[in-house]
Amino acid sequence: MSVLQDHLTEWFQTIHQHPELGMQEFRTTELVKQVLNTHGIRQLALPLETGAIAVLGHDGGPTIGLRCDMDALPIEESTGLPYASRTHGVMHACGHDFHTAVMLGVALCLKARESALAGKVKIVFQPAEETTQGAFAITRTGLVDDCNLFLGLHTYPGFQPGTLGIKSGPVMAAVDWFSIRLHGRGSHAAQPQKGIDPIPAACATVTALQTLASRFSNPFSPVLCSVTRIEGGTARNVIPESCLLEGTVRTMDPQVRSEIREHFMRLVTETARAYAVKAEIDWSSGPPALINDPSLCTLARTIAQQQGLSVDIQEDTLGGEDFSEYLVYPSVRPGLFVRIGTGGNYPQHHPRFTADPSALESAVHFFTSMAEACLAKA
Ligand code: NI
Repeated sequence: MSVLQDHLTEWFQTIHQHPELGMQEFRTTELVKQVLNTHGIRQLALPLETGAIAVLGHDGGPTIGLRCDMDALPIEESTGLPYASRTHGVMHACGHDFHTAVMLGVALCLKARESALAGKVKIVFQPAEETTQGAFAITRTGLVDDCNLFLGLHTYPGFQPGTLGIKSGPVMAAVDWFSIRLHGRGSHAAQPQKGIDPIPAACATVTALQTLASRFSNPFSPVLCSVTRIEGGTARNVIPESCLLEGTVRTMDPQVRSEIREHFMRLVTETARAYAVKAEIDWSSGPPALINDPSLCTLARTIAQQQGLSVDIQEDTLGGEDFSEYLVYPSVRPGLFVRIGTGGNYPQHHPRFTADPSALESAVHFFTSMAEACLAKA
Protein backbone atom coordinates (compact mmCIF):
# COMPACT_ATOMS: atom_id res chain seq x y z
CA MET A 1 0.00 0.00 0.00
CA SER A 2 1.16 3.51 -0.76
CA VAL A 3 1.83 6.12 1.91
CA LEU A 4 -1.11 8.13 0.56
CA GLN A 5 -3.46 5.14 0.82
CA ASP A 6 -2.30 4.61 4.42
CA HIS A 7 -3.18 8.20 5.29
CA LEU A 8 -6.51 8.01 3.48
CA THR A 9 -7.51 4.80 5.24
CA GLU A 10 -6.57 6.22 8.61
CA TRP A 11 -8.58 9.44 8.12
CA PHE A 12 -11.52 7.50 6.71
CA GLN A 13 -11.61 5.03 9.59
CA THR A 14 -11.11 7.69 12.26
CA ILE A 15 -13.95 9.80 10.86
CA HIS A 16 -16.11 6.69 10.49
CA GLN A 17 -15.55 5.82 14.14
CA HIS A 18 -16.63 9.27 15.28
CA PRO A 19 -19.64 10.28 13.19
CA GLU A 20 -21.31 13.62 13.87
CA LEU A 21 -24.69 14.98 12.82
CA GLY A 22 -25.14 18.08 10.66
CA MET A 23 -23.78 21.36 12.08
CA GLN A 24 -22.18 19.38 14.91
CA GLU A 25 -19.12 18.16 12.97
CA PHE A 26 -16.72 19.63 15.56
CA ARG A 27 -14.37 16.71 15.87
CA THR A 28 -14.31 16.08 12.10
CA THR A 29 -13.60 19.78 11.47
CA GLU A 30 -10.75 19.57 13.97
CA LEU A 31 -9.26 16.58 12.16
CA VAL A 32 -9.56 18.31 8.77
CA LYS A 33 -7.97 21.53 10.02
CA GLN A 34 -5.20 19.64 11.74
CA VAL A 35 -4.29 17.72 8.58
CA LEU A 36 -4.38 20.92 6.52
CA ASN A 37 -2.24 22.78 9.07
CA THR A 38 0.26 19.94 9.32
CA HIS A 39 0.81 20.14 5.58
CA GLY A 40 0.98 23.93 5.45
CA ILE A 41 -2.26 24.27 3.50
CA ARG A 42 -3.89 27.70 3.68
CA GLN A 43 -7.47 28.02 4.92
CA LEU A 44 -10.11 30.72 4.62
CA ALA A 45 -11.69 32.13 7.78
CA LEU A 46 -15.10 30.46 7.62
CA PRO A 47 -17.71 32.18 9.84
CA LEU A 48 -19.46 28.89 10.69
CA GLU A 49 -19.04 26.64 13.72
CA THR A 50 -18.13 23.62 11.60
CA GLY A 51 -16.63 23.12 8.16
CA ALA A 52 -13.47 24.38 6.49
CA ILE A 53 -12.26 25.78 3.17
CA ALA A 54 -8.72 24.99 2.00
CA VAL A 55 -7.05 27.13 -0.66
CA LEU A 56 -4.28 26.02 -3.00
CA GLY A 57 -2.52 27.67 -5.92
CA HIS A 58 -2.34 31.38 -6.61
CA ASP A 59 -4.08 34.47 -8.03
CA GLY A 60 -4.01 35.42 -11.66
CA GLY A 61 -5.90 32.43 -13.06
CA PRO A 62 -9.29 30.77 -12.77
CA THR A 63 -10.63 29.35 -9.50
CA ILE A 64 -12.00 25.82 -9.23
CA GLY A 65 -14.24 24.69 -6.38
CA LEU A 66 -14.12 21.17 -4.99
CA ARG A 67 -16.65 20.11 -2.39
CA CYS A 68 -17.15 17.27 0.05
CA ASP A 69 -19.64 16.87 2.89
CA MET A 70 -18.82 15.69 6.41
CA ASP A 71 -22.04 14.89 8.31
CA ALA A 72 -23.46 11.54 9.44
CA LEU A 73 -26.98 10.21 10.01
CA PRO A 74 -29.09 9.34 13.08
CA ILE A 75 -28.79 5.58 12.45
CA GLU A 76 -27.52 2.84 14.77
CA GLU A 77 -24.67 1.12 12.91
CA SER A 78 -24.71 -2.65 12.51
CA THR A 79 -21.88 -3.31 10.04
CA GLY A 80 -19.71 -5.14 12.54
CA LEU A 81 -16.66 -3.33 11.11
CA PRO A 82 -13.62 -3.09 13.41
CA TYR A 83 -13.83 0.70 12.96
CA ALA A 84 -17.62 0.90 13.42
CA SER A 85 -19.21 3.98 14.99
CA ARG A 86 -18.41 4.54 18.64
CA THR A 87 -21.25 7.02 18.95
CA HIS A 88 -24.56 5.42 19.86
CA GLY A 89 -27.29 6.10 17.29
CA VAL A 90 -25.09 8.01 14.83
CA MET A 91 -23.49 6.51 11.74
CA HIS A 92 -21.70 7.42 8.53
CA ALA A 93 -24.28 5.57 6.45
CA CYS A 94 -23.91 7.74 3.36
CA GLY A 95 -20.13 7.70 2.98
CA HIS A 96 -19.45 11.34 3.83
CA ASP A 97 -16.46 10.03 5.83
CA PHE A 98 -15.13 8.67 2.52
CA HIS A 99 -15.75 12.03 0.79
CA THR A 100 -13.87 13.93 3.50
CA ALA A 101 -10.88 11.58 3.34
CA VAL A 102 -10.76 11.89 -0.48
CA MET A 103 -10.73 15.69 -0.39
CA LEU A 104 -8.01 15.71 2.27
CA GLY A 105 -5.97 13.53 -0.07
CA VAL A 106 -6.64 15.88 -2.99
CA ALA A 107 -5.51 18.83 -0.86
CA LEU A 108 -2.20 17.08 -0.13
CA CYS A 109 -1.63 16.09 -3.78
CA LEU A 110 -2.37 19.60 -5.03
CA LYS A 111 -0.12 21.06 -2.33
CA ALA A 112 2.76 18.98 -3.68
CA ARG A 113 2.27 20.59 -7.12
CA GLU A 114 1.09 23.99 -5.95
CA SER A 115 3.55 26.13 -7.88
CA ALA A 116 2.59 24.45 -11.15
CA LEU A 117 -1.15 25.09 -10.76
CA ALA A 118 -2.63 27.42 -13.39
CA GLY A 119 -4.84 29.20 -10.85
CA LYS A 120 -6.54 28.55 -7.55
CA VAL A 121 -8.41 25.61 -6.04
CA LYS A 122 -10.81 26.01 -3.13
CA ILE A 123 -11.74 22.79 -1.34
CA VAL A 124 -14.94 23.03 0.68
CA PHE A 125 -15.37 20.67 3.64
CA GLN A 126 -19.08 21.22 4.04
CA PRO A 127 -21.23 20.61 7.11
CA ALA A 128 -24.84 19.41 7.11
CA GLU A 129 -25.62 17.96 3.70
CA GLU A 130 -28.26 15.58 5.05
CA THR A 131 -30.29 18.43 6.47
CA THR A 132 -29.73 20.50 3.30
CA GLN A 133 -28.47 23.46 5.35
CA GLY A 134 -24.75 23.19 4.67
CA ALA A 135 -24.37 24.27 1.04
CA PHE A 136 -26.74 27.17 1.66
CA ALA A 137 -24.67 28.31 4.65
CA ILE A 138 -21.34 28.00 2.80
CA THR A 139 -22.47 29.79 -0.37
CA ARG A 140 -23.97 32.68 1.61
CA THR A 141 -20.59 33.44 3.19
CA GLY A 142 -19.47 34.68 -0.23
CA LEU A 143 -16.18 32.82 0.17
CA VAL A 144 -16.71 30.68 -2.94
CA ASP A 145 -18.34 33.32 -5.16
CA ASP A 146 -15.20 33.49 -7.31
CA CYS A 147 -15.24 29.80 -8.27
CA ASN A 148 -15.68 29.31 -12.02
CA LEU A 149 -16.99 25.78 -11.62
CA PHE A 150 -17.56 23.14 -8.94
CA LEU A 151 -16.75 19.44 -8.71
CA GLY A 152 -18.32 17.08 -6.18
CA LEU A 153 -18.46 13.37 -5.38
CA HIS A 154 -20.57 10.68 -3.82
CA THR A 155 -20.01 7.06 -2.85
CA TYR A 156 -22.02 4.61 -4.91
CA PRO A 157 -22.67 1.01 -3.75
CA GLY A 158 -23.98 0.08 -7.23
CA PHE A 159 -20.42 0.00 -8.63
CA GLN A 160 -17.29 -1.79 -7.47
CA PRO A 161 -14.14 0.21 -6.64
CA GLY A 162 -12.45 1.29 -9.87
CA THR A 163 -15.67 2.39 -11.55
CA LEU A 164 -16.96 5.96 -11.71
CA GLY A 165 -20.51 7.05 -12.48
CA ILE A 166 -20.41 10.01 -14.86
CA LYS A 167 -23.60 11.19 -16.47
CA SER A 168 -24.38 14.34 -18.39
CA GLY A 169 -27.49 16.43 -17.63
CA PRO A 170 -29.86 16.11 -14.65
CA VAL A 171 -28.61 13.63 -12.03
CA MET A 172 -30.36 14.64 -8.81
CA ALA A 173 -33.79 16.17 -8.25
CA ALA A 174 -35.04 19.49 -6.93
CA VAL A 175 -36.42 18.86 -3.45
CA ASP A 176 -39.53 20.46 -1.93
CA TRP A 177 -41.15 19.55 1.37
CA PHE A 178 -44.76 20.00 2.44
CA SER A 179 -46.81 19.83 5.56
CA ILE A 180 -50.60 20.11 5.33
CA ARG A 181 -52.84 20.56 8.35
CA LEU A 182 -56.50 19.88 7.53
CA HIS A 183 -58.73 21.58 10.10
CA GLY A 184 -62.20 20.12 10.62
CA ARG A 185 -64.40 19.99 13.70
CA GLY A 186 -64.30 17.16 16.18
CA SER A 187 -67.34 15.15 17.22
CA HIS A 188 -68.54 11.71 18.31
CA ALA A 189 -67.79 9.02 15.76
CA ALA A 190 -71.49 8.11 15.77
CA GLN A 191 -72.61 11.68 15.12
CA PRO A 192 -70.56 12.83 12.13
CA GLN A 193 -73.22 15.40 11.19
CA LYS A 194 -72.26 17.42 14.26
CA GLY A 195 -68.64 17.77 13.17
CA ILE A 196 -66.51 18.14 10.05
CA ASP A 197 -64.39 15.03 9.58
CA PRO A 198 -60.83 15.75 8.35
CA ILE A 199 -60.08 12.04 7.74
CA PRO A 200 -61.99 11.57 4.44
CA ALA A 201 -60.60 14.93 3.35
CA ALA A 202 -57.08 13.65 4.06
CA CYS A 203 -57.75 10.47 2.06
CA ALA A 204 -59.13 12.47 -0.87
CA THR A 205 -56.12 14.79 -0.73
CA VAL A 206 -53.66 11.90 -0.93
CA THR A 207 -55.58 10.52 -3.91
CA ALA A 208 -55.77 13.93 -5.61
CA LEU A 209 -52.00 14.41 -5.23
CA GLN A 210 -51.39 11.26 -7.28
CA THR A 211 -52.58 13.22 -10.33
CA LEU A 212 -49.63 15.64 -10.06
CA ALA A 213 -47.39 13.07 -11.73
CA SER A 214 -50.02 11.32 -13.84
CA ARG A 215 -52.16 14.20 -15.18
CA PHE A 216 -50.45 17.56 -14.64
CA SER A 217 -46.99 16.99 -16.02
CA ASN A 218 -45.24 15.94 -19.19
CA PRO A 219 -44.55 12.19 -18.87
CA PHE A 220 -41.00 12.83 -20.16
CA SER A 221 -40.18 15.18 -17.29
CA PRO A 222 -40.09 13.38 -13.92
CA VAL A 223 -42.44 14.46 -11.15
CA LEU A 224 -42.78 12.62 -7.87
CA CYS A 225 -45.06 13.33 -4.92
CA SER A 226 -44.78 11.10 -1.87
CA VAL A 227 -47.08 11.55 1.11
CA THR A 228 -44.96 9.94 3.80
CA ARG A 229 -46.78 10.77 6.99
CA ILE A 230 -50.42 10.94 8.09
CA GLU A 231 -51.35 11.77 11.64
CA GLY A 232 -54.88 12.27 12.89
CA GLY A 233 -57.16 11.04 15.60
CA THR A 234 -56.73 9.60 19.07
CA ALA A 235 -59.48 7.00 19.52
CA ARG A 236 -61.81 4.70 17.58
CA ASN A 237 -64.93 6.60 18.61
CA VAL A 238 -63.73 10.19 18.13
CA ILE A 239 -63.74 12.23 14.95
CA PRO A 240 -60.61 14.38 15.30
CA GLU A 241 -60.33 18.14 15.00
CA SER A 242 -57.58 17.93 12.42
CA CYS A 243 -55.31 15.68 10.40
CA LEU A 244 -51.70 16.20 9.33
CA LEU A 245 -50.17 15.13 6.00
CA GLU A 246 -46.46 15.43 5.23
CA GLY A 247 -44.23 14.51 2.36
CA THR A 248 -42.00 15.60 -0.46
CA VAL A 249 -42.18 16.67 -4.10
CA ARG A 250 -39.30 15.99 -6.51
CA THR A 251 -38.77 17.41 -9.99
CA MET A 252 -35.88 17.78 -12.45
CA ASP A 253 -36.84 20.93 -14.36
CA PRO A 254 -37.11 24.43 -12.79
CA GLN A 255 -40.15 25.36 -14.90
CA VAL A 256 -41.91 22.10 -14.00
CA ARG A 257 -40.97 22.67 -10.37
CA SER A 258 -42.88 25.95 -10.17
CA GLU A 259 -45.85 24.66 -12.21
CA ILE A 260 -46.19 21.59 -10.00
CA ARG A 261 -46.18 23.77 -6.91
CA GLU A 262 -49.18 25.70 -8.29
CA HIS A 263 -51.06 22.50 -9.13
CA PHE A 264 -50.26 21.16 -5.67
CA MET A 265 -51.63 24.26 -3.94
CA ARG A 266 -54.83 24.18 -6.01
CA LEU A 267 -55.44 20.44 -5.52
CA VAL A 268 -54.98 20.69 -1.75
CA THR A 269 -56.95 23.89 -1.27
CA GLU A 270 -59.84 22.90 -3.52
CA THR A 271 -60.08 19.34 -2.19
CA ALA A 272 -60.22 20.77 1.32
CA ARG A 273 -62.98 23.16 0.24
CA ALA A 274 -64.94 20.29 -1.30
CA TYR A 275 -64.83 18.46 2.02
CA ALA A 276 -65.58 21.61 4.07
CA VAL A 277 -62.28 21.54 5.93
CA LYS A 278 -59.63 24.23 5.92
CA ALA A 279 -56.14 23.48 4.62
CA GLU A 280 -53.10 25.12 6.15
CA ILE A 281 -50.14 24.44 3.86
CA ASP A 282 -46.51 24.81 4.82
CA TRP A 283 -44.23 24.50 1.78
CA SER A 284 -40.45 24.67 1.99
CA SER A 285 -37.97 24.52 -0.86
CA GLY A 286 -34.77 22.50 -0.66
CA PRO A 287 -31.91 22.43 -3.17
CA PRO A 288 -32.53 22.76 -6.92
CA ALA A 289 -31.98 19.92 -9.42
CA LEU A 290 -28.35 18.96 -9.97
CA ILE A 291 -27.38 19.25 -13.64
CA ASN A 292 -24.01 17.90 -14.79
CA ASP A 293 -22.21 19.99 -17.39
CA PRO A 294 -21.68 18.04 -20.67
CA SER A 295 -18.14 19.31 -21.37
CA LEU A 296 -17.00 18.54 -17.81
CA CYS A 297 -18.42 15.03 -18.29
CA THR A 298 -16.35 14.58 -21.44
CA LEU A 299 -13.21 15.76 -19.64
CA ALA A 300 -13.96 13.48 -16.68
CA ARG A 301 -14.43 10.42 -18.91
CA THR A 302 -11.11 11.09 -20.63
CA ILE A 303 -9.26 11.44 -17.33
CA ALA A 304 -10.93 8.37 -15.84
CA GLN A 305 -9.94 6.29 -18.84
CA GLN A 306 -6.35 7.60 -18.73
CA GLN A 307 -6.19 6.46 -15.13
CA GLY A 308 -7.53 2.99 -15.90
CA LEU A 309 -10.91 3.56 -14.27
CA SER A 310 -14.13 2.24 -15.76
CA VAL A 311 -16.91 4.70 -16.48
CA ASP A 312 -20.55 3.79 -16.19
CA ILE A 313 -23.87 5.59 -16.04
CA GLN A 314 -25.51 5.23 -12.67
CA GLU A 315 -29.17 4.51 -12.13
CA ASP A 316 -31.37 7.61 -12.30
CA THR A 317 -32.67 8.88 -8.99
CA LEU A 318 -34.95 11.58 -7.68
CA GLY A 319 -32.86 11.83 -4.55
CA GLY A 320 -31.67 15.30 -3.58
CA GLU A 321 -28.17 16.66 -3.00
CA ASP A 322 -27.36 20.18 -1.88
CA PHE A 323 -24.21 20.26 -4.05
CA SER A 324 -26.58 21.79 -6.63
CA GLU A 325 -26.67 24.98 -4.54
CA TYR A 326 -23.08 25.74 -5.62
CA LEU A 327 -24.20 25.61 -9.26
CA VAL A 328 -26.87 28.30 -8.88
CA TYR A 329 -25.63 30.71 -6.22
CA PRO A 330 -24.70 33.55 -6.56
CA SER A 331 -25.16 32.81 -10.26
CA VAL A 332 -25.32 29.80 -12.54
CA ARG A 333 -21.98 28.05 -13.14
CA PRO A 334 -21.02 24.63 -14.52
CA GLY A 335 -20.48 21.67 -12.25
CA LEU A 336 -19.96 17.96 -12.17
CA PHE A 337 -21.05 15.45 -9.56
CA VAL A 338 -19.33 12.08 -9.86
CA ARG A 339 -20.38 8.76 -8.29
CA ILE A 340 -17.47 6.75 -6.94
CA GLY A 341 -17.93 2.98 -6.94
CA THR A 342 -17.46 1.86 -3.33
CA GLY A 343 -19.06 -1.60 -3.45
CA GLY A 344 -20.87 -3.12 -0.48
CA ASN A 345 -24.13 -5.03 -0.26
CA TYR A 346 -26.39 -2.40 1.27
CA PRO A 347 -27.80 0.90 0.01
CA GLN A 348 -27.01 4.30 1.45
CA HIS A 349 -28.77 5.19 4.72
CA HIS A 350 -28.89 1.48 5.67
CA PRO A 351 -27.43 0.42 9.08
CA ARG A 352 -25.14 -2.00 7.22
CA PHE A 353 -23.97 0.42 4.53
CA THR A 354 -20.22 0.21 3.90
CA ALA A 355 -17.80 2.06 1.60
CA ASP A 356 -14.70 0.13 0.52
CA PRO A 357 -11.60 2.14 1.47
CA SER A 358 -9.67 0.60 -1.43
CA ALA A 359 -11.50 3.08 -3.69
CA LEU A 360 -10.03 6.11 -1.86
CA GLU A 361 -6.72 6.51 -3.63
CA SER A 362 -7.98 6.32 -7.22
CA ALA A 363 -10.68 8.88 -6.33
CA VAL A 364 -7.96 11.22 -5.03
CA HIS A 365 -5.93 10.92 -8.24
CA PHE A 366 -9.02 11.43 -10.35
CA PHE A 367 -10.07 14.66 -8.60
CA THR A 368 -6.52 15.98 -8.45
CA SER A 369 -6.19 15.54 -12.22
CA MET A 370 -9.66 16.98 -12.81
CA ALA A 371 -8.79 20.12 -10.82
CA GLU A 372 -5.51 20.55 -12.70
CA ALA A 373 -7.13 19.96 -16.08
CA CYS A 374 -9.99 22.37 -15.33
CA LEU A 375 -7.50 25.08 -14.33
CA ALA A 376 -5.44 24.55 -17.46
CA LYS A 377 -8.55 24.61 -19.65
CA ALA A 378 -10.46 27.52 -18.12
NI1 NI B 1 -24.84 11.54 0.99
